[in-house]
Amino acid sequence: DTIEWDPEETGKSGYDHYMLKEIHEQPRALRQCLRGRVDEMAGTVDIEDLGDLSPTGVQFVACGTSYHAALYGAQLFREAGIPAQAFLASEYATSVPPIGDALVVGVTQSGETADTLSALRAARKRGARTMTVTNVVGSTAARECDHAFYIRAGPEIGVAASKTFSSQQVALNLLALGMTNTGDVREIITALRELPGNVQRVLDESVAEDVAEVYEDAGAYFFIGRGYQYPVALEGALKMKEITYKHAEGFASGELKHGPLALVTENTPVFAVVTGDGEQARKTVGNVKEVEARDAPVVAISDGQSDVDRYADHVLELPETHPRAAAVLANTHLQLVSYHVANLLGRNIDKPRNLAKSVTVE
Ligand code: G6P
Repeated sequence: DTIEWDPEETGKSGYDHYMLKEIHEQPRALRQCLRGRVDEMAGTVDIEDLGDLSPTGVQFVACGTSYHAALYGAQLFREAGIPAQAFLASEYATSVPPIGDALVVGVTQSGETADTLSALRAARKRGARTMTVTNVVGSTAARECDHAFYIRAGPEIGVAASKTFSSQQVALNLLALGMTNTGDVREIITALRELPGNVQRVLDESVAEDVAEVYEDAGAYFFIGRGYQYPVALEGALKMKEITYKHAEGFASGELKHGPLALVTENTPVFAVVTGDGEQARKTVGNVKEVEARDAPVVAISDGQSDVDRYADHVLELPETHPRAAAVLANTHLQLVSYHVANLLGRNIDKPRNLAKSVTVE
């Protein structure tokens, strides 16, 4: 007797697709990213080998999913009082902004994306210090930059990024805390520590597959979020486009009324990420009401602290945690929704048409 052994199948460890396997690997990936870098007792973050960077400003350059992580990262630095901005790498290289003493940080899973490498080179040519936040030791970005901070997600085979995005989110929290040491450091450290367990809870309990079944035929999918949840909305839409080939857009909640609302119909589910019970949540709930009044189905990604659930047709539940960590958890639900819609539509999930894992041309 011979046993059929297909290395492709074996690599998937029983999952139908690498992407699903990688979504499920997130608790482990995030633990690896955190290992040895946080001291919960002391309430400190130790980012090894980076020395004393204390930048006066940070400019992030990145593409695709990594750009969404960069938007999130820039917000973390701004909150710590450091001017920070995220740029699409291709645009940055086209018109390099004044850099001053800023640290230029290329966020790139592969470390090989041509647009990101060009932007980093353009910055270096102007005398900037550069850093990469990457998954790949020895990658071009890691070799060319002054500093490399590794996200330690492990290899990602699926073309659409999943565990590398959440690992970038965690790594950027560590960088922001490690470099600035300001803000509610202890609360954030605790939330980061609890994150792998909370991601596991979301993976175990998410009703994303049921939601996907209801909306697999939708004309388009919209995603809204505010603050930390804005990049999550953009990433939710990008994932949906990449693997389902359907129209999807992410918007800042507040922008909905400035145009996109014209697209909203009973055939366009709106995924609204709402966490906490503060001003931001209250405003986003207001945006959700506008959508609901136009008969669009609403899927709330909610921690139950606001009253968004009342206006939602479905709720993807989040455990209560720090809003920064909630952004990782909300994204986990959205990854699963896109995955299941793509699977129901029979798409080539691990190798979507026209896309490459690493784009080495500009
Ligand atoms: C390609 C991939 C995307 C990825 C982007 C940036 O377009 O298909 O999933 O987000 O490149 O890749 P990087 O390796 O720089 O993070």
